[in-house]
Parts: sequence; C-alpha cells; structure tokens
Amino acid sequence: MNETPKNQGQGWDSGQYLKFAGPRLRPALDLLARIDVDSPQSIYDLGCGPGNVTQLLAERWPKADITGVDGSPDMLARAAADFPDMTWVEADLNTWQPSGPIDVVFSNAALHWLDNHVALFPRLMGHLNPGGVLAVQMPGNHAQPSHMLIRDAAGPLLDKIEPHMRPDPVEVLGVYYDALEPVSSEVDIWETVYNQILEGDNAVAEWTKGSVLKPLLDVLDDDEKDAFFAAYSELVGKAYPKRPDGKTIFPFRRVFIVAKQ
Ligand SMILES: C[S@@+](CC[C@H](N)C(=O)[O-])C[C@H]1O[C@@H](n2cnc3c(N)ncnc32)[C@H](O)[C@@H]1O
Repeated sequence: MNETPKNQGQGWDSGQYLKFAGPRLRPALDLLARIDVDSPQSIYDLGCGPGNVTQLLAERWPKADITGVDGSPDMLARAAADFPDMTWVEADLNTWQPSGPIDVVFSNAALHWLDNHVALFPRLMGHLNPGGVLAVQMPGNHAQPSHMLIRDAAGPLLDKIEPHMRPDPVEVLGVYYDALEPVSSEVDIWETVYNQILEGDNAVAEWTKGSVLKPLLDVLDDDEKDAFFAAYSELVGKAYPKRPDGKTIFPFRRVFIVAKQ
C-alpha cells in the first residue's frame, strides 16, 4: 500500500462529528455485542473521539479500567468534559504503546486513518492478555459516490487536495484473516451495509464534512473551501436525492474484525 498522509487527529471537529451521533453509534453497538469477554480489567478505546462510544464500554463493563486514546486535543477536551471519570490520553496511534497488557482493544471508525494494516493488526494483538480481544470497525465506503465524487468536485483545486486524499486504507477482508489467524485463537470478520436515514439539507455532504472531507477542507483557503464544498454538495445531492419526506438514504458499508488471543 502507498505511503499516505497521516491524520494524527489534530484537525478533528467534535461538533461536526457529533451531528450524526445516532447513525454513527449503531456500528459501535453491533461491534460491542460481538465481544465475548466476561470481566475485562483493562480496556483501551483507540481513536476514541469525543468519548460517547467509550462511555458504552464503561456501561457494559463498569468495573474495568477504561482509557480512551486519541490524537485530537479537541476531541479529548470534549471527552474529558462529558465523561470526567474516564482516563483520556493524547497519542498518535502510529506510535502508541500501552503501559501493560490489555484485555480488550476496541476501535470504532478510527484505524482506517492508519496505514499498513497488515503490520498494525498483529501488533495490536501483541498487546493483549491471553483470552483478550481486539475489536475493530472501519468504514469501507471508498468505492461509493460519497467518496468518488470528491475528485469530480475538486476541479482546478484537485492539485491542492490530491496529496491529502488517502487511497482506500481498508484491505480486502481475506488480508485481515491472513494477518490475524497466525496470532489468534479465533477470528471473526464481517461487513454490513447500513442504509442510514439522514435528516436535514445537504445531509450526505454534511456527513462527510465531519470525516473524509475534513483533511481536504483544511488545506483550502476560505473561498476555495466554499467553492469546493458547494460543487461537492451539488454532486452528492444528485447521487443521494432527498426522499419525498425530506430525508436522505445514505448506504454505508462497514467492516468488522474481532480476534481473540
Ligand atoms: C471518526 S472518529 C471516531 C471516534 C470514535 N471512535 C467514535 O466511534 O465515535 C476518528 C478518530 O480517530 C482519531 N485519529 C485519527 N488518526 C489518529 C491517529 N493517528 N492517532 C490518534 N488518533 C487518531 C481522530 O482524532 C478521531 O477522533
């Protein structure tokens, strides 16, 4: 896989991201339901963002020590304000090391920002106690109009944003099986397409503004940002038309990986 620009999480905007907390939460709940560990002592949530998913881990395992790790000071400030009883650590996941062995490594919608998954996933398994679980969910939507139309919308700005566009970081699923099977007692991999029903105007563009568009908008000046976002909004508005009730269906594929030590 190509070397790609790293997102260390510094530019994330918790407010924009939380606009869609409902639809973004469901895959996290589906992932959580597949973790078969009775009473873990030590849990890490990698790329914890504003902490609302980390809170779900605390609700399921109230006696565990839970640490949220993220590279974004904005996200962590929000997490610490909303959930002051948990531990929040600022770190780049490319180099992060836990202080001791862990029972659950959880990561929802974050590891697609890291490269070289073939090395990353076995490395994360190496942090687990025997019987511990690695549980990961990542979006796998790169082949859909929400992503493909970015290039079409860029026009003359393509030169400026192209160096910041990540190629699809999520491998075909067999690659994860081959990487994890030698270091796991069980590996479960699946994918789900969620037909998300979004409310409001320009719903798909507003969604991607808080995720895949964010690093691209960050490199544009204000006028360029407005022009690019308007062009992109028009294109995705046609690809994902509003239904007669004013809502928008945004199909979104997600990949799930649960591996046990
Ligand atoms: C889409 S959000 C997911 C947040 C949360 N897990 C959830 O499910 O709502 C992705 C998070 O990954 C973080 N992130 C991305 N790359 C990172 C890196 N290299 N190191 C640490 N955090 C990173 C971002 O700051 C952001 O908070």
